[in-house]
Amino acid sequence: MKPLGVAVVGAGYWGPNLARGFSNSADCELRWVCDLDPARAGATARRSKSARATTALGQVLDDLEVEAVAVATPAASHAGLVRACLGAGRHVLVEKPLALSLADADRLAVTAAQCGRVLMCDHTYCYTPAVRMIRDLIQSGDLGELHSVDSVRVNRGRVQPDVDVFWDLAHHDLSILDFVLPDGRVPTAISARGSDPLGVGRACVGWLTLDLIGSARVQVHVSWLSPTKVRTTILSGSRRVLVWDDLHPTARLRVSPRGADAIGSQAGGGPSAVPEIGAVALPLARTEALSGVVAEFVAAIREQRPPLTGVASELRVLAMLEVASQSLARDGAVMLLGIGRRSQGCRMPAGYRAPDASSRGVTLSGPSRTTGAPDWV
Ligand SMILES: NC(=O)c1ccc[n+]([C@@H]2O[C@H](COP(=O)([O-])OP(=O)(O)OC[C@H]3O[C@@H](n4cnc5c(N)ncnc54)[C@H](O)[C@@H]3O)[C@@H](O)[C@H]2O)c1
Repeated sequence: MKPLGVAVVGAGYWGPNLARGFSNSADCELRWVCDLDPARAGATARRSKSARATTALGQVLDDLEVEAVAVATPAASHAGLVRACLGAGRHVLVEKPLALSLADADRLAVTAAQCGRVLMCDHTYCYTPAVRMIRDLIQSGDLGELHSVDSVRVNRGRVQPDVDVFWDLAHHDLSILDFVLPDGRVPTAISARGSDPLGVGRACVGWLTLDLIGSARVQVHVSWLSPTKVRTTILSGSRRVLVWDDLHPTARLRVSPRGADAIGSQAGGGPSAVPEIGAVALPLARTEALSGVVAEFVAAIREQRPPLTGVASELRVLAMLEVASQSLARDGAVMLLGIGRRSQGCRMPAGYRAPDASSRGVTLSGPSRTTGAPDWV
């Protein structure tokens, strides 16, 4: 089959990674790297055998061999670029967040559906072997009932010009959560508090708490201002606890048998795959997440189906972030999330199968509670 003609728009920090992912895929031909900065476009294009550099999106869209465009520019430019690419009949892979508001993102989802194009947001972590295994362990019931999730995603990061630390870093945690939770375990309430020690006008450090149906609680700490980089998520279930340390050189994902009914499991001879004492490192495949992102994007286009992490999941994540922003503006007030099907907000073209996990959507609806910061913040 003829390789898919692809262009990458934005060749700063992340765009070159996407360009490499497309260049390494036998299913793709990277035809263009586009950046307002010609030096960046040129440097990234030169690393590929097939790509040319340009500063003009129009030149990319004039090339009829380009079937798909990947957008890796700053967040504020995403909606406009995605709209232009969809309008020109191209499939689009876009970096997070798809847009700066749920309403804008929803409009883009509708546009993509109306013109029958795949619109996928790069939820990179969902394509890591660790997150795939976490999802399997939760959804198979191996973890038992999920009690809590604690995530820390901090480092000395770049203060983004157009989004706060929640929309930049907590977006990863929310997309992972959306991916790993079984249907029905949707968030019901959100509280967000943040701080802006640099005085840049938006939160650079943040704490997010979510309640899930079934009384589980999720806590996420994100920061651009930490001298130490930490990428750790602990998922506690009634039977086992998973510790995902994405920076650990050898044991990124470990499982321990701790949990409320662990003793009962032992007595009843419960699952025996994991020893009942101590933590065990789970073997993970050595595949790069970005190759999975590229493969899924191409497969969705070829098979005319929504991607595994398609626009439906991005809309759910943005819905959560919007409510988190409202809570942040009220210093951590607990805000309720309406729960419903988001499928009406992510219509797919004729012939598409149902969107991924569309039965568990999050919509902005219902009253908000303003009872002040919850006691766990
Ligand atoms: N998935 C991930 O893990 C991950 C990691 C890092 C960044 N990102 C995302 O990637 C995106 C880019 O982040 P970055 O850190 O690479 O930013 P960056 O500032 O390093 O690079 C952005 C580039 O886009 C170019 N640009 C801006 N507007 C443009 C336009 N209209 N047309 C063409 N080029 C344009 C800039 O000149 C710059 O070179 C952000 O949305 C960010 O959230 C994702």
